[in-house]
Amino acid sequence: MLRRLHADQPDSFAFTPANLAWADAQITKYPEGRQASAIIPLLWRAQEQEGWLTRPAIEYVADKLGMAYIRALEVATFYFMFQLQPVGSVAHIQICGTTSCMICGAEDLIGICKEKIAEKPHQLSADGKFSWEEVECLGACANAPMAQIGKDYYEDLSGKSLVKIIDMLAAGDVPTPGSQNGRYAAEPRKGLTSLTEFDSGKTQYNASVQLAADIGDTVKRIDGTEVPLLAPWQHGGKSKSKTAGKAKPATKTAAKPAAKPAAKAAAKSAPKSASKAKPVAADGKPELLKKARAGGADNLKMIKGVGPKLEELLHKLGVFHFDQVASWRKKEVAWVDENLEGFNGRVSRDEWVKQAKVLAKGGATEFSSRVKKGGVY
Ligand code: FES
Repeated sequence: MLRRLHADQPDSFAFTPANLAWADAQITKYPEGRQASAIIPLLWRAQEQEGWLTRPAIEYVADKLGMAYIRALEVATFYFMFQLQPVGSVAHIQICGTTSCMICGAEDLIGICKEKIAEKPHQLSADGKFSWEEVECLGACANAPMAQIGKDYYEDLSGKSLVKIIDMLAAGDVPTPGSQNGRYAAEPRKGLTSLTEFDSGKTQYNASVQLAADIGDTVKRIDGTEVPLLAPWQHGGKSKSKTAGKAKPATKTAAKPAAKPAAKAAAKSAPKSASKAKPVAADGKPELLKKARAGGADNLKMIKGVGPKLEELLHKLGVFHFDQVASWRKKEVAWVDENLEGFNGRVSRDEWVKQAKVLAKGGATEFSSRVKKGGVY
């Protein structure tokens, strides 16, 4: 396939301060004079920040590594993992079309992408939210057919489950990755036939899916505020790299702004009663409100794991404010978990109470900072 730079390019590119700190840390992994070895991680980070690899981004990385533009272009155009054209603002769906997946129905999945997203691969959907492409074997053949969406694998797909996944993503939710037909991992569909002792005591999801669900950032852009930002030998700030020395404040600056004014505002709006511990109701039902207090509801979508649908559901239940969520105790968490129809278990899974405690005090979590910066779609 001919891989060319896209015709429409932005004027410029720059890493976010935190991504710059991360990039500087990567460069220190290589000996003096070999900085060009960092080309792939840096191009990848640029792509994760923007969604695709623009010409200014390639040139920016080349400048940073002291390389001729053509050398960086050679790398960017050689590897298919680099997207040289804009991708959907919500998700780029990569359908595996190799043997196992093809035999098990990849063509149907591609048909769905053509129908729901765009007729041709790499074309944006009409609303700009999605794009798709067919890719070679992604190494999950035992769970064919499958697709990679963002950072995670969705396996044992059917046309119906792919439609559901796309619809959920369009609605702002992140579907749970992994097998979509009820399999735990890659065991026989009818259950284990050997090593059955491992069937008991397992967690809700297998380790990969559990981790993906815990992080919950399947399709989020990477802005660098994720941890760890620095190479392990840089913790403590004693880096040999000139630029990496600037990296230390970057982590702090990402979290600092807005904390003070927000704290004041939150302290003002939080009712005194929120801090008084009332006894937990016998059924575990927490204190709910008929409507938001004067001043309006908090943006509950600042809590990682709460999308527009869940926020609507919470409002229907009578939950409008961070301090309400922050006050829930174990039994109350269980009650809410049970009553979030279609989203059962999300409060404990995504640790809402822990997040809400920070937000209720006017603080910021890594996720809420990204929401404020518009990095969450
Ligand atoms: S053939 Fe699809 S993952 Fe291997």
